[in-house]
Amino acid sequence: MKRITINDLMKWKREGKKFASIATYDASFAQVFESQEMPVLLVGDSLGMVLQGENDTLAVTVDDIVYHTRCVRKGSPNSLLMADMPFMSYVTPEEACENAARIMRSGANMVKIEGGEWLVDTVKKLTERSVPVCVHLGLTPQAVNVLGGYKIQGREQDQAEQLLRTSLALQSAGAQLIVLECVPAALAAKITESVDIPVIGIGAGNQTDGQILVMHDIFGISANYMPKFSKNFLEETGNIHKAAAKYIADVCSGHFPDEKHTIA
Ligand code: KIV
Repeated sequence: MKRITINDLMKWKREGKKFASIATYDASFAQVFESQEMPVLLVGDSLGMVLQGENDTLAVTVDDIVYHTRCVRKGSPNSLLMADMPFMSYVTPEEACENAARIMRSGANMVKIEGGEWLVDTVKKLTERSVPVCVHLGLTPQAVNVLGGYKIQGREQDQAEQLLRTSLALQSAGAQLIVLECVPAALAAKITESVDIPVIGIGAGNQTDGQILVMHDIFGISANYMPKFSKNFLEETGNIHKAAAKYIADVCSGHFPDEKHTIA
């Protein structure tokens, strides 16, 4: 696979070419995904749940992310590699810069931060200091205790309007990518067509520019539970390389997510 950059994702958005991405945590699986030409990998703080067995992502540290980013980069030299900034590691823009520097030095091409409009200053500071930023909006798992659970976001008109405003504000602040989690498909489609930067959906229908899932979910081996919007691709293909290839093919053709895996 040739080296993937944010410019490729921007070009694919302009051309209407969909792309797949996956949360992964070690060199061996990163190599499997690179061999199938998965363009975007994420070292997600979901590692707190699928690797560490926690009920949420809050215990994950910057050290954890640095360690796993190093591992994934070894297995996948060419993907665009995003890495999550963990809970409480970007409370101030200054702290965000310090922690992002460690994460970028471990091999990431971009950091991902969760939140809303309050991220504007942080995004500005990071991007001015040459750290590319993906913003994670909608259901933001680090806020599970504020949200009262892993609930669909943006169902109410005012919430939906706020999410659109937030997406535009963060794009203006310098964000180069958006991850939208667990929002109704129509809202995700509206946000995707309203911004110039690529939007990656998870539980957000098939009108976004890209899709992302957690690796353990596509192989049906998650320790805790399988979200309704995820799909076990191993079941129908029988081996991990074919499962990864099928996930990528189904995303690129627009067959995944289908209606069964979409929040209306
Ligand atoms: O932590 C993670 O794996 C994520 C994806 C599910 C988007 O944030």
